[in-house]
Amino acid sequence: MSIRTRWYKDAVIYQIYPRSFCDGNGDGIGDIKGIISKLDYIASLGVNAVWLSPCYKSPNDDNGYDISDYRDIMDEFGTLDDWKEMVKGMHARGIKLIMDLVVNHTSDEHEWFKEAKKGKDNPFRDYYIWRKGRGKNGKKPPNNWTSRFGGTAWEYDEASEEWYLHLFTKKQPDLNWDNPKVRKEVGDLVKYWLDLGVDGFRCDVITYISKVEGLPSGKFALGAVGDENFTHGPNIHQYLHELNQNVLSKYDCMTVGEAAGVTIEQGLLYTAEDRDELDTVFMFEHVEADTYFRLLPRKFDLRKLKRIQAKWQNGLRGRGWNSLYYENHDQPRSLPRFTGDFGELRAQSAKMLAVSYQFLQGTPYVYQGQEIGMSNYPFKSLDEMRDVMVSYVRGALGKFEPIMRPLILKVLKKRARDHARTPMQWANAKNAGFSTAEPWIAVNPNYQFGINVKEQNAEGADSILNFYRQVIAYRKDNDIVKLGAYQDYLMKSKDIYCYERAYRGERILVICNFKNKEVKFKMPNAIPFNSVELKLHNYGYDRKQPETTMLRPYEAMVFLLK
Ligand code: NOJ
Repeated sequence: MSIRTRWYKDAVIYQIYPRSFCDGNGDGIGDIKGIISKLDYIASLGVNAVWLSPCYKSPNDDNGYDISDYRDIMDEFGTLDDWKEMVKGMHARGIKLIMDLVVNHTSDEHEWFKEAKKGKDNPFRDYYIWRKGRGKNGKKPPNNWTSRFGGTAWEYDEASEEWYLHLFTKKQPDLNWDNPKVRKEVGDLVKYWLDLGVDGFRCDVITYISKVEGLPSGKFALGAVGDENFTHGPNIHQYLHELNQNVLSKYDCMTVGEAAGVTIEQGLLYTAEDRDELDTVFMFEHVEADTYFRLLPRKFDLRKLKRIQAKWQNGLRGRGWNSLYYENHDQPRSLPRFTGDFGELRAQSAKMLAVSYQFLQGTPYVYQGQEIGMSNYPFKSLDEMRDVMVSYVRGALGKFEPIMRPLILKVLKKRARDHARTPMQWANAKNAGFSTAEPWIAVNPNYQFGINVKEQNAEGADSILNFYRQVIAYRKDNDIVKLGAYQDYLMKSKDIYCYERAYRGERILVICNFKNKEVKFKMPNAIPFNSVELKLHNYGYDRKQPETTMLRPYEAMVFLLK
């Protein structure tokens, strides 16, 4: 019997990437003391939960997504006592904490892996996935799977003459979930954190944990060979159900699974309430509205975004629950990604984006800095990037790297994960107020031009930050937003996103102009109403009703219709 409530359905969740949030001890790296110093700020946004990217002990090959001790805190971030103080402070402010659960792989510096490397007879050997190589001397990887970061997904171990699997860097060996001892370990560590007061988990690449027996080679695919043999693998539902029944269901916690490439039907298999696996998933389709093959940049296509949102809004209605987001630590900033060149209109465009997704059905996430309109960093060279994915791709290209460099830079100027990882901009002060020391990654110079918390706090209702607060306050405890049916209009428009949410005779109408130009808006005939109230407007409250009109560049409005 599950004791879980569905509190996440009323939540707005703020994501913290600890390395880049706030440096409390002056070493140029964000940490837990820094987070503690900003708890009042987080509470002031009106959010009621935080998703904290990994803060566990880690050699930091992939900024904490490579864990060497699941039960302790990364040295650079502080101590377990700091962490406890942080959770206490969050809970005192009515904020729940969702930790990252990274259990598809560990760090190669985890004790289990150190043991496993000692030899084929070691009791931990089978915690990981080892195979003999192909070819005469077994010097060819066991299959053709590629790491998500480029190159083969296998690393050769001279001592045992076997290869181990790593779907990410070679310092992130994949755990063998088919081993019941591994599943027990995961259950135990999940329990450990729940007992310490954690309220849920964001489950990192959780769809990869079960691999097809025999690990067959995959069919050719751009940048992701083998996918069909480890995504939504054969035993995944059994393993997640087991974790749920043994541990999660005994706590009032929530889970959200990272699920790249997930379809609605697969999503429902993970999240349908009677299946007792996960609560929600992050789908990725909408953040591919500006890419080919999930990878190569192309012009953002609003119609594609709208089609995908409609599909998920209607597809999960009454059956599952959406996770709503534009940004996270793996995605470039939504400005200018979804807005194009916003020129002088940063505030209007950032506010418009907020309106465009916060009134959908689901649990919305706000990624640190999104609420002040932080935008992509003006990278000029690959050497400025800190992401292991960049060095990995460059390494995998070998002697072709110099020829490919301009092309990679061109792609990464749009797509780099580091865009989201530049330090949070707290003030127009040295290093944007993030740290007194040189930060581990460059600070976006635009903190000097009003893109910082301090100035936006002082700016009053007009700032992006204060607009986010209004949006969050309005959506919170609002039954129309929580429960209303979704209906979109003007689906053919390349410029306007217009949708309504209807519940018990009341409706919210959302109108967003995604373009940096005036666009004609014609009220759809299907929207009759007796009375109308303008609830939010990114240009100030000067419209009375949603009349047929010219929308200003990036204009966004929310009306309550009765
Ligand atoms: C997904 C995480 O969000 C990303 O940052 C990380 O590199 C990979 N999983 C590997 O853990």
